[in-house]
Amino acid sequence: MTTITINGKDHSFNGIDPAMPLLWALRDHAGIQGVKYGCGVGQCGACTVWLDGFAVRSCQLTVGALEGRVVTTVEGLATATLHPVQQAWIDHDVAQCGYCQAGQIMSAAALLERNPSPTDDEIDAAMAGNLCRCGTYGRIKSAIKAASGAMTASALFYNAMEAEELSA
Ligand code: FES
Ligand code: FES
Repeated sequence: MTTITINGKDHSFNGIDPAMPLLWALRDHAGIQGVKYGCGVGQCGACTVWLDGFAVRSCQLTVGALEGRVVTTVEGLATATLHPVQQAWIDHDVAQCGYCQAGQIMSAAALLERNPSPTDDEIDAAMAGNLCRCGTYGRIKSAIKAASGAMTASALFYNAMEAEELSA
């Protein structure tokens, strides 16, 4: 048995081959369908999830190696409100067929968690492993920049509130 925390809840995988890729464990055994199969060889990014907060290709990880680890999928990204990246995706009407988009969003959100104000080159580098056969790359980049602006503005707002509270 392997127990993994998925989107904040523990999920025990019983009686499945520990060599099964996390992608299939999520889709076929945990009922999480946002994660998609594209290439199966780590080349397209459709299966991107977070493992302990880092973007990874779930087709390249075996479920048996993940005891106690924390996985987040696109279904678990939002809290009380949509994640700024999800909101920017809607505002910029990014998706076309949508197949690659959960992976794109997970990579973009992971980038902004660590680098809230990335340059164009940093965005290109972080997103290079996520392919889109519909060619939505321009809208993806615009949405990442918008989410970056929203996250930076919100961080500045909370810092200012904190400073005001400390000085009161
Ligand atoms: S399905 Fe995992 S990278 Fe393509
Ligand atoms: S939106 Fe169709 S593959 Fe990206």
